[in-house]
Amino acid sequence: MYPGETRRETLDWKAVQGQHITAVERRILVLGSGGREHALAWKLAQSEGAKVFIAPGNAGTAQVGVNVDMKLSDFESIKRFCLKENISLVVVGPEQPLVDGIVDFFRNDEALKAVRIIGPDKRGAQLEGSKAFAKDFMEKYGVPTAKCFKVTKDNLADGLKFLETVNAPYVLKADGLAAGKGVLILNDLQEAKDELAKMLEGKFGAASATVVIEEFLKGIEVSVFVLTDGEHYILLPEAKDYKRIGDGDTGLNTGGMGAVSPVPFCTSDFLSRVEERIVKPTLKGLKTEGVDYKGFIFLGLMNDGGNPYVIEYNVRMGDPETEAVMTRIEGDFADLLSACADGRLDEVHYAKSDKTAVTVMMVSGGYPEAYEKGKKMSGLDGLKDVVVFHAGTAFNAESEVVTSGGRVIAVTAHGDSIEEARAVAYREVEKIRFEGMNYRHDIGLDLMKMQ
Ligand code: AMP
Ligand code: GLY
Repeated sequence: MYPGETRRETLDWKAVQGQHITAVERRILVLGSGGREHALAWKLAQSEGAKVFIAPGNAGTAQVGVNVDMKLSDFESIKRFCLKENISLVVVGPEQPLVDGIVDFFRNDEALKAVRIIGPDKRGAQLEGSKAFAKDFMEKYGVPTAKCFKVTKDNLADGLKFLETVNAPYVLKADGLAAGKGVLILNDLQEAKDELAKMLEGKFGAASATVVIEEFLKGIEVSVFVLTDGEHYILLPEAKDYKRIGDGDTGLNTGGMGAVSPVPFCTSDFLSRVEERIVKPTLKGLKTEGVDYKGFIFLGLMNDGGNPYVIEYNVRMGDPETEAVMTRIEGDFADLLSACADGRLDEVHYAKSDKTAVTVMMVSGGYPEAYEKGKKMSGLDGLKDVVVFHAGTAFNAESEVVTSGGRVIAVTAHGDSIEEARAVAYREVEKIRFEGMNYRHDIGLDLMKMQ
């Protein structure tokens, strides 16, 4: 039993026969409200003795736990809730609370000492919170990544010169968090120069006061997820994300329109290169820098002819990748995360399913631009052979499930191949209805040829 856990008397037939059985109740808080958090809560709820709370959650998380109305920026309320409800494990879904220092807040508060929290400290979260920090870190610890040049208003002229030395397309990145919108990829040199100036003038607010210009990397992208306790690590299932709104990777960038796991080109050879060239130097760097990192590292990688390069670090799980990945992790996930928080990742048994997971994200009409909310949803009951994760849903006054976000619902199916999993996922997606709904029809198609 871990600190912060309570023993609960369970009355069953043995107890009736005069034998008392005690079971461990693990009270877990998941922070966030999207499909990723529903998937995390769904998986954690299957752990022995788990009772899961989700703050603030959505209509889907209410099926696997208890939603709690709290703001993720209000650390004091989160603290009070943890103490009142005797929470033993906190899992942080999105990056913002980590970048804001929620892990440091927990570590520095005597009353919260017994509460495990999954995520890096504030400095570790800079791997995602500042692209310039991440690039310096990679350079210092020899992690392969695109060459870059950092620009502020003070060295704009040098930035413009640097643009002239690299080939199109030109990659411009806002240094800070910009809700996934801070990266521009431009084909025209003049346009790149103009956009660089606009970014420095505040196109993405304070996030683009510093801009990182990057060399364009060729290849295929993949998301690799690492769980580390700072000393040891395991590779969780990898996934491919589909970022553009339209079939055939066309149109605007979104938060992600679907995912596939595993990814056929992630052979054991490729993954061992990822471990040797990226994971190990990254963990060594974090340790050398004195970062307290017990949590997920999401490596956004480019596979260029079998060689991995880091496009970006994220300090959380991906969305919608988590909706595929969680369905492939076997065993007790709360045990795994508790071991992570305790620095015992080397002691736990971890296994993943050989099945292929395909996730299709259904979105509101108009997304990723303006869209309407509050659309009634139907067809959610009676779906077969899939797991449904809610991304942007809520209950209306009549307790009906309605849309409440751009990304609305993720449907995940398993199969022995991408083809099989796709067939099941799309068969069930077609049963779900809401006004204006949209989804991609080609999730996994590109990978089928590589199987
Ligand atoms: P990021 O926010 O850094 O993940 O960038 C968003 C997307 O832009 C990535 O998922 C890639 O598709 C693309 N991207 C970012 N940096 C590069 C690069 N150096 N070369 C090619 N594509 C990139
Ligand atoms: N799916 C990409 C992300 O979560 O950032």
